[in-house]
Amino acid sequence: MRIVSGIQPTGNLHLGNYLGAIRNWVRMQDEHPAGSCLYFLADLHAISMPHVPAELSANTREMVAALVACGIDPARSVLFNQTQVPEHAQMQWLLNGTARMGWLNRMTQWKDKAGKNREGQSVALFTYPVLQAADVLLYQATHVPVGEDQKQHLELARDIAQKFNNDFCTEDAPLFTLPDPMIPPEAARIMSLRDGSAKMSKSDPSDMSRINLTDDADTLMNKVKKAKTDPEPLPSDKDGLAGRPEAANLVGIYAAMAGSSVEQVLAEFGGQGFGRFKPALGDLLVAKLAPINDRFVALRQDRAALDAILRAGANRARELAAPTLAAAYDALGLVR
Ligand code: TYM
Repeated sequence: MRIVSGIQPTGNLHLGNYLGAIRNWVRMQDEHPAGSCLYFLADLHAISMPHVPAELSANTREMVAALVACGIDPARSVLFNQTQVPEHAQMQWLLNGTARMGWLNRMTQWKDKAGKNREGQSVALFTYPVLQAADVLLYQATHVPVGEDQKQHLELARDIAQKFNNDFCTEDAPLFTLPDPMIPPEAARIMSLRDGSAKMSKSDPSDMSRINLTDDADTLMNKVKKAKTDPEPLPSDKDGLAGRPEAANLVGIYAAMAGSSVEQVLAEFGGQGFGRFKPALGDLLVAKLAPINDRFVALRQDRAALDAILRAGANRARELAAPTLAAAYDALGLVR
């Protein structure tokens, strides 16, 4: 098994990232032999949108500290940033010859982010999913732990791999492994605290819409208290959450954080109002996130240690990437 996944170092880790992806990263690391997992900061993806260079470099180091605080162990997982592994950008260029405009035009993230102003977007935003395909195909990833919102990008990676194998390889010696997305059954899509129809996201201008892993206890309690809800008490079974996206989101967060199920949470809180449920949710979040926060605060100070983690991770990643990149050049008839 080869497990590969990435996260953009734009701003803080939030609860959606943690429950949708990072918790699974740690689980996969703990369940598989050392060296099976590669986790990276998608800093090259981050330049597809307007950004402030000084913030990107600071956020890159902070994200390393946050991932280690969440339980990623650089001694067992290969932890690095794309920039220090130029094979990602090289592989993207090779795959640009295989990816099709029509495929990229259908990507919902492209449509959402570009909105009505497609002409004004960077080329990088459009070809973003090709870099994402390169990220995983480069390492022959078998499993890619992600949240629901990345599923379509992973399907595209499979399409690109399949077409490349068909066009440039013989049937008995395909170059690329087709990666499988691993999406957690619970918490695959954590929604904004202010709008149950929008996903929790780093790009939401309101910080009240998300729970950052670095929020202190007071901030956490306040965000949960102010979270949008409806006037009804909680239902006692799952069907009662239909048409109540904000209530469903908070119950889902509680279940995911407590390691229980939505049914169990409703068995406990069904019939009670949010005045009772919200403080319980706030307390649970504070209890679970405080140890992560403490580790993060300690780690983020040591810039030299964070840089050393990225350097060592990149060296290992480059070794692992080299054979597949070389084979892709050869398959395309490029003389190297
Ligand atoms: P990014 O940085 O937006 O998010 C990182 C991970 O967090 C998950 N996630 C969520 N899960 C549940 N609920 C939410 N509200 C939520 N918000 C984010 C994402 O699904 C993701 O797993 N393009 C990717 C980064 C990337 C990548 C890759 C991922 C680049 N190359 C290769 C996997 C494989 C992104 O922007 O994720």
